[in-house]
Amino acid sequence: MLILLLACTEESKDSGTVPGGNDSADTAVDTGLADWVTPAEPEACGYTAGSTAGDGTATLDLVASDFGWDPGTGTMLETGLAFNGSVPGPLIEANKGDIVTVTFTNDTDTEMTIHWHGLRITPEMDGVMQMMDPVMPGESFTYEFVPPDAGFYWYHPHMSGDTLLERGLYGTMIIHDPSEGRADCDLPIVLDDVLLDEDTRQIAPPDTDMMQLMGRLGNVLMANGRALRSYEVSQGQTILLRLVNSSNARFWDVRLEGHTMTVVGTDGGFIAEPYVADHLLVVPGERYLVLVEATGEPGQSYALLNNRFQLHDDEHSDMMESDPMGDQENPVFYLQYGAEAVEGTPWVQPTPDIPAFEDNIPATFGHQWVLDEDMMGGTVTIDGAAWPDVPMVTVEGNLDTLFEVKNDSEMHHPFHIHGNRFQLLAVDGVPVEGPPAWKDTWDAPPMSTLSFASPLDNPGEWMYHCHILEHAEDGMAGLMTVEE
Ligand code: C2O
Ligand code: CU
Ligand code: CU
Repeated sequence: MLILLLACTEESKDSGTVPGGNDSADTAVDTGLADWVTPAEPEACGYTAGSTAGDGTATLDLVASDFGWDPGTGTMLETGLAFNGSVPGPLIEANKGDIVTVTFTNDTDTEMTIHWHGLRITPEMDGVMQMMDPVMPGESFTYEFVPPDAGFYWYHPHMSGDTLLERGLYGTMIIHDPSEGRADCDLPIVLDDVLLDEDTRQIAPPDTDMMQLMGRLGNVLMANGRALRSYEVSQGQTILLRLVNSSNARFWDVRLEGHTMTVVGTDGGFIAEPYVADHLLVVPGERYLVLVEATGEPGQSYALLNNRFQLHDDEHSDMMESDPMGDQENPVFYLQYGAEAVEGTPWVQPTPDIPAFEDNIPATFGHQWVLDEDMMGGTVTIDGAAWPDVPMVTVEGNLDTLFEVKNDSEMHHPFHIHGNRFQLLAVDGVPVEGPPAWKDTWDAPPMSTLSFASPLDNPGEWMYHCHILEHAEDGMAGLMTVEE
């Protein structure tokens, strides 16, 4: 058995001191991060409309290029990247059924494709290297697709994801149903972490093999590319938090100080029966729509707090990855209340008609994926192999189908499937609580089996993979053909 010790360094927690002393990136970094990131100036709550043109179309030029950005340490990242000079990239906003046209230009020196995570579009436009040639440095490619479902989605490069997302390449998409109401503050939040060298405050060197296997955890927690933001709100408002986890490997376990979080939607959009969550696990790639009634006190500020989540839990593993954020709860961003209370817009929950598979388990069985790892051999596998040797899965399309993911490893893996939507039905045969909800990404806990179902109504050749980006790069990925 291999034991990774939590490396703890005795750092002063005095404000203003810069942790120092470690010059090798494979030593765990200190926990005193709050000391070297500075709170941002308060900013307006909610997004400013992105690219949407109306008239059934949305058009955007999207340029990936070198871009120095500041995660909140006061130092620009020399190896930073961004879409259109912002981290996250521009919000793409459209109505479901719109024709979305994105002309992507690769102004970096790394070839890449752009993937539209969660959209049920055509495989040719899904932005994976099996279906299109990479866009080479200096070249452009026009993506055109019609998002069929309202919801909150995101986009990111699909080759070299582990390094390109760490450097800042990701963005969000809101697909509206025109009948939806609005919250006073509609706030997309990309949860991300980045691992900085504590002396230079630049992105730390590439991972060692062991870090690659464990997944790269960062030492700065960011909302929308910046640590410790503050959003200005007023008592009485309704706030819709649209959470997405773009981290390489971090599972976020969040709660909002002093407020009730009501889950009103998941990966595939709004759900018909909202539920209250004391805290929420958001795994890499996953999305949650969370409604918050602003019940805080005028003048006060309240943090979204993140709790440590162990990818190797004590029950299933003797191993423990070291988390550079430490074991304590850490603030991510704040809601800063103004002096006045206001009369807010009451939230009207959409009532999508989501068929309930739980009462109607499909008779057709599609496939059981088996996830495994060989820590000593340094590999992660699906169905006993690593990409590109994972056998093709072929299933009939337009047929309600049951699937399983059996995780035989000691570690959590966020399992993601492109192109179709799914409902999680059971974990180890125990039905999951909660209303029917569309998902494309789930946590597969260690030594457990997930059951989920899909109508498989979007035929094509689709990738599936672990969304720990190091694992995806290391071959924990395969292809599924959904026949016509
Ligand atoms: Cu967000 Cu195939 O990924
Ligand atoms: Cu995806
Ligand atoms: Cu994994």
